[in-house]
Formats: sequence, structure tokens, C-alpha cells
Amino acid sequence: MYEDELQKYANDILMSENFKSMRDFIQHGNMSVQEHCISVAKTSLAIRDKYNIDCNTRDLIRGALLHDYFLYDWHKNDKLSPHRLHGFFHPGRALRNARKEYYLSSRQEDIIIKHMWPLTVVPPMCREAWIVTMADKYCSFLETVRIQKGVIHTGKIHGKNFRNRN
Ligand SMILES: [Fe+2]
Ligand SMILES: [Fe+2]
Repeated sequence: MYEDELQKYANDILMSENFKSMRDFIQHGNMSVQEHCISVAKTSLAIRDKYNIDCNTRDLIRGALLHDYFLYDWHKNDKLSPHRLHGFFHPGRALRNARKEYYLSSRQEDIIIKHMWPLTVVPPMCREAWIVTMADKYCSFLETVRIQKGVIHTGKIHGKNFRNRN
């Protein structure tokens, strides 16, 4: 669902090498950053439709696809790229990367830079950014819940054996 709209407004992003490279970076569990961004874009469209929100579809889709365009593996820490504060800094990194390759409208920029609100303190300034912020949290919640279910089922937490005694 929503593939047609994604292709209509963002085929250049979907087909680009850098966007495709995000399938090599894990977001949560075994979901890649590429899958996560597509999922956030589709969820944003579902929110638009469910609540009949009048918004700019092109900006909504392109901002959602690029909201996590940070292009590194945030699970790996090394001296050159310490990603411990990933939550705070990745929106800025995503925005810089996206600006190098695409013309971004002010709405798309707001989506990318504010999607971690309330971590960003300053709230979103347009309805498109509010929608993506909520869609991102919803998708991240589902991805995390699925990991936790997997952890309990496999009986392992942080690599250690774990038994539910209840
Ligand atoms: Fe993010
Ligand atoms: Fe995200």
C-alpha cells in the first residue's frame, strides 16, 4: 500500500545509491534503516488518510524518507565516529547529508531536524513534521516491541541466558 505515491513523489530518492545503502545499516532488531524510513513514510500517509489531514504529500513523503539519512551504523562505536549521542545528533547529520543531494523545502527540513522531538526541544513547525514525528515514534515502538518479544522467546538478553521464572 502507498507504493504508487512513494514512487510518484520520491522515485529519485528510492532509486539512489545512498538510499539503497541504508539497507546495510540496522535500525532496530533486524530492520534496516532503509526499511524503517519507508515504513515511516507509509505510516505518515496512513495517518494523513485516517485523520483526513490536508497536507503537502510530496513534502511529507520526501521528509519521511530522508528523516534518518545519517548514513552510518549507529550501533558501532569507534574513535572516529562515536555514536553514543546518536539520538541527539543524527537529525543534524541527516539534514546535512540530504542537503548535499536534494533540494529541500522548508517543510522537509523541519521534518528531518525535528523528528526526534521532544529531544530537540523546539517543536515541529508544520503539520507534515508533526505527522512524521508521530509516525517515527509509532514505527520505532513496534520495532522495539518485536525485539523484546524475540528476546523473551529466545531466552537471551544482552547475550546472556535468561529464563522467565513466572
Ligand atoms: Fe531518527
Ligand atoms: Fe526514524
